Amino acid sequence: MHGMSLQGTDAHRDNDTLPALVQQAVEAARTHGFAFSCRPEQGRLLQLLAAGAPHSIAETGTGCGVGLAWLASGAAPGTRLISIERDAERARIAAEVFRDHDHVEVVHGDWRQIEQYGPYDLLVLDGGGQAKGDGTADPARLLTAGGLVVIDDFTPATTWPPHFNGEPDEPRLHWLEHPELRAAELRLAADLSVIVGTRLPGG
Ligand SMILES: C[S@@+](CC[C@H](N)C(=O)[O-])C[C@H]1O[C@@H](n2cnc3c(N)ncnc32)[C@H](O)[C@@H]1O
Repeated sequence: MHGMSLQGTDAHRDNDTLPALVQQAVEAARTHGFAFSCRPEQGRLLQLLAAGAPHSIAETGTGCGVGLAWLASGAAPGTRLISIERDAERARIAAEVFRDHDHVEVVHGDWRQIEQYGPYDLLVLDGGGQAKGDGTADPARLLTAGGLVVIDDFTPATTWPPHFNGEPDEPRLHWLEHPELRAAELRLAADLSVIVGTRLPGG
């Protein structure tokens, strides 16, 4: 397998080290043949960032709930989590994973519905709102002061300005140079980066 990257659902193979809720979500994703769960590297980052979110966390693109399970496994008991998925079947499967977790809500619909429940201490963009063609989330409206946004799934950049398919990588630049954020690219694996941004005071 060297040099080949696994898709997120399959990359969660080392079951014994995973939180129970993550195991359940991975199992649900497998059962339904959904390959595009977040990678475990991303999951572990979400778990630790969730611990720093005192009140509320939101995610766009629930899939079958793997990233949401990592978030819920790290969040303090009083923190509310909401995730939105536009595919009805996936939303139903994910809701089932969290049926006994009252503080976790899975909503079926377009990512833009997160605006109805914000602002959030932590916002994870994993399906809509990433400035990659399906809308762009506005940190000034969606984040609390000092709140964090995580944009998943970039290829590690090796040039400045960053390029993607030979063109300047506009989504990446949008987040890294956002006037209301202090943002950085974090390399989580040789083939996987995320961008993390904190909302600046007054931004
Ligand atoms: C990469 S997968 C999400 C993986 C998931 N966060 C996890 O950690 O397992 C992207 C998901 O976003 C959903 N999606 C794409 N566009 C969306 C939109 N506009 N609104 C809501 N969900 C969307 C897709 O249906 C897909 O299930």
